[in-house]
Amino acid sequence: MEQKQKTIGILTSGGDAPGMNAAVRSVVRTAINKGMRVYGVYHGYAGLIKGELFEMDMRSVSNIIHRGGTMLYTARCPEFREEAGVMKAKETCEKYGIDGMVIIGGDGSFRGAADLSRHGIPCVGLPGTIDNDIACTDYTIGYDTAMNTVVEMVDKIRDTCQSHDRCSVVEVMGRRAGYIAVNAGISCGAICIMTPEIPITVDEVIARIKESQKVGKQNFIVMVAEGVGHSVEIAEKIEKETGIESRATILGHVQRGGNPTVRDRVAASQMGYYAVQLLEKGIGNRVVGLRHDAVVDFDIQEALSMKKPFQEDLYKIANDISY
Ligand code: ADP
Ligand code: F6P
Repeated sequence: MEQKQKTIGILTSGGDAPGMNAAVRSVVRTAINKGMRVYGVYHGYAGLIKGELFEMDMRSVSNIIHRGGTMLYTARCPEFREEAGVMKAKETCEKYGIDGMVIIGGDGSFRGAADLSRHGIPCVGLPGTIDNDIACTDYTIGYDTAMNTVVEMVDKIRDTCQSHDRCSVVEVMGRRAGYIAVNAGISCGAICIMTPEIPITVDEVIARIKESQKVGKQNFIVMVAEGVGHSVEIAEKIEKETGIESRATILGHVQRGGNPTVRDRVAASQMGYYAVQLLEKGIGNRVVGLRHDAVVDFDIQEALSMKKPFQEDLYKIANDISY
């Protein structure tokens, strides 16, 4: 008996990340090359609930590999946290004959993918978030581009900081994780890096600034992860207690945009290709990741239960060579 043509859907969910389009492109072209039909879903789980689907072909993903953002748009969808929302999404999948879904997002999106898998729609998650805070993978799509954006911005801040012998307190994204802060901090020569994982006080920052002044350091970058926050107050306290003019810069959403770097384009293409191979075998409820540059996959619940170690070695190096 002729085998039914497989049909898959793809959506992007949660915070967007540079490289998501490269992942979408890889999934669509891999699937079509395998004889599958592909439906794009706009606006994440909200679009799946509402039925915002369109059939995709090879040309649907032309000229996007170099573009930040997501051509499928994304959304945060509280309704999908409820059973009724998941049931509506399942009905959409059944209506379109979707045999499996690729979900590009972070931990939250994977929790949704586990629910949908439990309701009979095999889902495969791709780690798409600039935070790099997903424990089952060494790397998440968007992380390298975001870090390079931060370094480019802070290099500009350093110009004026140095010209005025000032201290610049720079707040970066990362939600509750400090991976962007540590890696950007070491790359920008920060005198101190404040992260949720290794809490240091503002008084400790001030002490380090004063110590570095004794050996001639005259301008300072303090990197603050948004999970610590309060960068404006930190700058004010530094100025008050050291007399050094201090300014805070909250980089914000500039970290989420921009053309994806090679690393993000390659990682996205690799993991997208692998995800389709899983769905081709009817395998779902998995999260794809990269471990020592090899593509791997884990049961979603297993992936969500993992804990990601903090880069304490990097943190120490950053501190030891900061002045
Ligand atoms: P990210 O995927 O980047 O972590 P969110 O945490 O905002 O971003 O999750 C994105 C979407 O995934 C949410 O808007 C919601 O639709 C869905 N989601 C998040 N957590 C859950 C959950 N526990 N159960 C079901 N769906 C969830
Ligand atoms: O998860 C990615 C991220 O950029 C976090 O670093 C940040 O805290 C959050 O999204 C911001 O979310 P929103 O775009 O909804 O303000």
